[in-house]
Amino acid sequence: MPVLVEQDPTLVGTLGHALPTGSQVVATTERALAWLDQHPDEYAVVLGPSVELLAALGTAEDLRIKRPTVSVVLVREQFDTDVLTRAMHAGVRDVVAAGDEKAVTGAVERAHQLFQALRGPGGARQLGRVVTVFSPKGGVGKTTSSVNLALALTDRGARKVCLVDLDLAFGDVAITMQLFPTHSIEQAVGSEDSIDLAMLEGLLTRHQDSLTILAAPSHPDVRERVTPLLISRILRALRDGFDYIVVDTSPSFDDATLTALDETDECVIVATLDVPTLKNVKVALETMDMLSIARGHRHLLLNRADEQVGISVEKVESILGMPVSAQVATAVDIAAATNAGTPIVSEKPGHPASLAFTHLAASVTGEPIPAPDGTNATAAEQPRARGLFRRGRS
Ligand SMILES: Nc1ncnc2c1ncn2[C@@H]1O[C@H](COP(=O)(O)OP(=O)(O)OP(=O)(O)O)[C@@H](O)[C@H]1O
Ligand SMILES: [Mg+2]
Repeated sequence: MPVLVEQDPTLVGTLGHALPTGSQVVATTERALAWLDQHPDEYAVVLGPSVELLAALGTAEDLRIKRPTVSVVLVREQFDTDVLTRAMHAGVRDVVAAGDEKAVTGAVERAHQLFQALRGPGGARQLGRVVTVFSPKGGVGKTTSSVNLALALTDRGARKVCLVDLDLAFGDVAITMQLFPTHSIEQAVGSEDSIDLAMLEGLLTRHQDSLTILAAPSHPDVRERVTPLLISRILRALRDGFDYIVVDTSPSFDDATLTALDETDECVIVATLDVPTLKNVKVALETMDMLSIARGHRHLLLNRADEQVGISVEKVESILGMPVSAQVATAVDIAAATNAGTPIVSEKPGHPASLAFTHLAASVTGEPIPAPDGTNATAAEQPRARGLFRRGRS
């Protein structure tokens, strides 16, 4: 789907009408290039009027050589022959007026035709991956982690992520993000045989340009009518349109959770440093072993991993028989940020908790984390995530 670079919300609205459903919106050309790195099947970049002409031409020059199958469409409030000539030399495929929705749609359609002609219609799209956030215990931070992990996975617009609230009776993803959905999974009840991405898109609520939510029903009794078949079809359909589908779950192996775990590619298990939780997580891991769920694709997140509670990280690892991928301390900032509708990863990207969620995201994707010095390292190569937060512990 095309990626639109535009910062002005009004222009995003009008240009959005002219683009196919599911198009991606990012604020800068830099994020558009990051998006292209992740999407070998992308065919069009639409540079909105807010993008400076020089930056737009530079981007087109760059893509002309590096990604000749991607068409650059330049949208200007006004343009003259000088702009047209320079755009043509830079490799821009179409220059269109901001007010001319039909021209924008036409330019993007031509871009798609060209892409198919160059790549062949069989240039298969990579399917999105399902990441389930699970814990057998309530209140350990599953929702907080799901929301922040989903935001970290968007990589500021380079990836498209959908957060699905499968805590069907008491889901609170939407309220946690201060969203007030008009639709939820409830409107998909009974549509097992007709679910597709286009239908689901009508049920999603947008949080940020690259993060959307499929909210839980507003009444607990609807849970009974959401069948496992419906859930698995929804997750499969979402794979067609998103890079990652993060699933928040209820604190039990109920039907919805088991279905999500069946579909899952990566599983994040949330634990806290207390004996009852660790005992339950251990039993849950054994159950997952028995059911062959996400073997080799499990990531342990220690939440509220505070000093002086009497259980060390080493002890947790030896009890659970798996390494800790990331740990987050108790911090009032985390709860305050979520309560304000801007989770900590968005509000304070440099906060230790945000860095921990970014590490968790890298552990999930297996892709490099950009280091402050500009070099890259994978989560596995970095000093183990816990080392960053474990100063002073022996
Ligand atoms: N590391 C943390 N520091 C401070 N507060 C936290 C932290 N993690 C979670 N919280 C707070 O703890 C409460 C419970 O967290 P959350 O809702 O994420 O848990 P949950 O596992 O999803 O619960 P449930 O099982 O009820 O769905 C929330 O108010 C949240 O803001
Ligand atoms: Mg929850």
